[in-house]
Amino acid sequence: ATSSNSVQEEFLKCMSTKISDSSQIIFSQNSSSYSSVLQFSIQNLRWLNSSNADPLVIITPLHESEIQAAVLCSRKYDLQIRVRSGGHDYEGLSYLSKTPFIIIDLINMRSVEVNVKDETAWVQSGATLGEFYYAIAKKSSVLGFPAGICPTLGLGGHVSGGGFGTLVRKYGLAADNILDAYVIDVNGRILDRKAMGEDLFWAIRGGNGASFGIIVSWKVKLVRVPETVTTFTVSRTVEGGVTKVVHRWQNIVSNMDEDLFIRVIMGPGGQNSERKTLRASFNSMFLGKIDKLIPLMNRTFPELGLKAEDCTEMSWIESTLYFPGFSKGSPLEVLLNREQVSRNFFKAKSDFVAQPIPVSGLEGIWDKILEEEIGMLIMEPLGGKMNQISESEVPFPHRKGNLYNIQYLVQWQVAGVKEANRHLNWIRSLYEYMKPFVSKSPRAAYVNYRDIDLGTNKLGKTSYSEAAVWGIKYFKGNFKRLAQVKSKVDPGNFFRNEQSIPPFTS
Ligand code: FDA
Repeated sequence: ATSSNSVQEEFLKCMSTKISDSSQIIFSQNSSSYSSVLQFSIQNLRWLNSSNADPLVIITPLHESEIQAAVLCSRKYDLQIRVRSGGHDYEGLSYLSKTPFIIIDLINMRSVEVNVKDETAWVQSGATLGEFYYAIAKKSSVLGFPAGICPTLGLGGHVSGGGFGTLVRKYGLAADNILDAYVIDVNGRILDRKAMGEDLFWAIRGGNGASFGIIVSWKVKLVRVPETVTTFTVSRTVEGGVTKVVHRWQNIVSNMDEDLFIRVIMGPGGQNSERKTLRASFNSMFLGKIDKLIPLMNRTFPELGLKAEDCTEMSWIESTLYFPGFSKGSPLEVLLNREQVSRNFFKAKSDFVAQPIPVSGLEGIWDKILEEEIGMLIMEPLGGKMNQISESEVPFPHRKGNLYNIQYLVQWQVAGVKEANRHLNWIRSLYEYMKPFVSKSPRAAYVNYRDIDLGTNKLGKTSYSEAAVWGIKYFKGNFKRLAQVKSKVDPGNFFRNEQSIPPFTS
């Protein structure tokens, strides 16, 4: 403890030579706000009291220069940096470390400037999607941004891992719609697109941003949305023939009209029913009105039996409240709340599906869900615009040929190792069961659904060939280029964590 105390003191001294007033932005372990600042953005309760969640110092910068100072002082005293924007990292990599570290928490760096005329915006990494969507809607009713569904996600982590939501089939990923960025590199320099060059600009758009530096802000291309969109959620149970409907959905989902987004959430149904039942919800948005949607559904997906009365017309910004489940009529200001409505303990894993899963395979999934009545699968459609973007355009490679992404998710409320292990065992056995039905060589995964089971860097030593085991799952052929960019911009591997991109070695 003595030596970490003195490192902390030296670090603070170093900071004080570089910035004039640190009282509002630096929290050391004996500061009274340390725990509340640390815990505020921990979204997965599994990591709340982790022994790896004890940074020497937390910095909540108000200005770029404070980040630059923190990079230089951390290097000087060999401290690791964890960067946190919204804190949703599934494995807590934005605030956990086994070696002495500081957290740079971007919670105060969240300005948004929307330029309606150019249809662009500058948004700082610490802004949440909710804050960003709200700011867009204040300026325009026909502009939006294609990114994730949960409004508390931070722009920093979300975009630097890809980012998809209800507009993915029309406009692709958040990372596909980035025009420029400011990054602070390992030498404490602040670089825009021109200064960083196209290699680094490529890498930060989905390639695990934290491996390359600290992204301060993004310039994004806004996209056109109609004044009125239509949403619907219809559920079918096993008794109601859901297996056939899900099977059909798989066959048509990636070729559907790109104005239509239908995701499927499969899980246990009906909490009060005597008999265990299973349910799939078709949770959807159409970029148009009901009178166009119904004939389109009758033509392409009559098996769902969608009726006009199942549907609600609303604005795009209202749809950003609908998907996370805010009740109808909630004020748009709920988007500004950085706290999640409820926090859980959770574990997730992911797959990409290239061939429809046969009916017998789907039936096996139902059996698995019955084993663990709180587990679920979220199946997000791809196709549309995603098919038109090449695998190497940005580091996210899961494009044409993929029908949909599956996220396996289990959430629980009770702390404790035994409880956690039960759920972890279940999700791992479901993942094993799914093997024959999902993408192969590699069995792909989505980096924003971070999964430490896929493999990790060894403490203090990061080998390219070992990292390739998990790296190829997330990035396929782009992994090598990411490692080559890493060699160029951070050859000493200062920015590292359990799943950071290592420098390339042949
Ligand atoms: P966090 O701050 O934890 O950062 C995640 C990673 O990025 C860490 O490694 C961190 O160090 C790094 N990082 C953060 N800011 C950085 C910066 N400025 N510069 C460099 N590195 C930085 N995904 C999706 O595509 N669609 C969705 O709809 C959802 N929905 C969803 C709901 C919920 C409840 C959760 C918990 C997660 C999702 N996700 C998602 C996954 C989400 O996209 C993923 O967790 C993002 O990394 C979250 O970004 P944050 O900034 O919030 O996380």
